[in-house]
Amino acid sequence: MKKLLALVLSLVMMCSCIVMASAEAPAKIGISMPTQSLERWNRDGSYLDEQFKSAGFDTILTYSDNDSGRQVNDIQNMLSDGVNLLIIAAIDGEALNTVMDEAAEAGVPVIAYDRLIMNDAVSYYVSFDNYTVGTLQGQYVETALDLANAGDKTYNIEFTAGDPADNNAGYFFGGAYDVLKGYIEAGTLKVVSGQTEFSAVATAAWSTDTALNRASNLLASYYADGTVLDAWLCSNDSTAMGVAQAIESNYAGNNAVVVTGQDGDIANLANIVDGKQTMTVYKNVKNEAVVTLALAKAMIANEEIGEALASSFGVACAYDVESYETSEGHKCPSFLLVPSVITKDNLQELVDTGLYVMGDDGYLKAAE
Ligand code: GAL
Repeated sequence: MKKLLALVLSLVMMCSCIVMASAEAPAKIGISMPTQSLERWNRDGSYLDEQFKSAGFDTILTYSDNDSGRQVNDIQNMLSDGVNLLIIAAIDGEALNTVMDEAAEAGVPVIAYDRLIMNDAVSYYVSFDNYTVGTLQGQYVETALDLANAGDKTYNIEFTAGDPADNNAGYFFGGAYDVLKGYIEAGTLKVVSGQTEFSAVATAAWSTDTALNRASNLLASYYADGTVLDAWLCSNDSTAMGVAQAIESNYAGNNAVVVTGQDGDIANLANIVDGKQTMTVYKNVKNEAVVTLALAKAMIANEEIGEALASSFGVACAYDVESYETSEGHKCPSFLLVPSVITKDNLQELVDTGLYVMGDDGYLKAAE
């Protein structure tokens, strides 16, 4: 009897030890970022990693060099390493089905970070309002050229959109095009190349070189005869970088061309100071990490997730259960932060975030 009691007691002790160990072992978070070749993802990766670590989590952070196969591998390794939650910015939103099914089988929840993944294993989506990013770019062109009061005047524009594999790219382009469509139809705005379809203006992997080459070709084919180029709508900074370079080298006109962008990359902010790019839509990715951490904590603690959580972040963020679907009819609850417009006139707003400093040379740098 005594022996039995001792056995039961030691079993009880063993069990409580296991419970304690698992209650105390920090949850492990897999953070899968697309590439280090674009500035913003370096910032996203390190903010996420730092913030999760300082909140007491273990983390695994990977970059997959814009190679979808490699991203699948990286995520599979995270699953074998026993991660408790995945945060993924997909290279190709349609290419992660197998590994998403594996995550679901292993009971590992997924937050789609910034870019949506087309698989119902995704529990939540954290991003900026992507359509609004495009709207801001379109409205900027509309105001800069004063299209509403153009009368008989006409203006020439070209478009450069993002990576077709990135679910965001269509939203950015759609948001911008919807603002400008009426002016194009009315003849106030003319797309001289005639290229207005997303598929014609898209840029694989958001490549600066691809954007540069296409822009150089269009300038040579349609503007070499002295045709004036008034604006080039670019969906983000890496493509705007290529387009600005093409304009600098291959455009004969001497008017300032309105060039839009997105992300507030350091090199593009320098171009804004120098007048080679006109604006960038800024997304504070440190705040995107703040929202992701708060959401992950709520998921792990099994807390209620909704409006109330969104208003507790201390960062402007909408809880949206309508706009995004991971498959036809399957809505993905989303937390959408608010983007803003930066031009040479309000660079101070970036300094005010604490993430940039103004150098003595008049150019912004990343804060240490
Ligand atoms: C998008 C992202 C943008 C931009 C682009 C290129 O998905 O939302 O901020 O960085 O990718 O990487």
